[in-house]
Amino acid sequence: MNEKEYKLTNVLILHGPNLNLLGAREPGIYGNITLDDINRNLKKLAENNGVKIDFFQSNAESALIDRVQLTMTDSTDFIIINPAAYTHTSVALRDALAAVKVPFIEVHLSNIYSRESFRRYSYFSDLAIGVISGLGAKGYELALQYVLHQNH
Ligand code: DQA
Repeated sequence: MNEKEYKLTNVLILHGPNLNLLGAREPGIYGNITLDDINRNLKKLAENNGVKIDFFQSNAESALIDRVQLTMTDSTDFIIINPAAYTHTSVALRDALAAVKVPFIEVHLSNIYSRESFRRYSYFSDLAIGVISGLGAKGYELALQYVLHQNH
């Protein structure tokens, strides 16, 4: 088979609730970087490597589910997701990712294992290709580097 068929060319970055407030929100935990800064850095890295990247943030569970369902028809072949608080609550968003079968990496800015006990459980981790937690905004970049590495 043609090697090209395996290239990951369309990546979707999904950000869950309250991540639109990054920069202003609990900077001691999440840092000073804004969501726009994160997305701009990822866009540059993706485009320098010939990968198309799309971004979606919502505070609404249903909007995130609808965006995941859209990947059945929009040719997304990899998802990098920070489900934020829905990590610990959303069977529905988990089910959407299971349904569309698009491989994904779960990212958290903070280390969810070193905080309140309710953050230690994720509805996503067992379905994920991998999980990055606690490396701040760098975690998104490392997840994208993994995708780019698959293309070489
Ligand atoms: C988070 C961790 C979650 O527990 C929290 O609800 C968030 C952000 C993170 O990136 O560290 O909103 O996903």
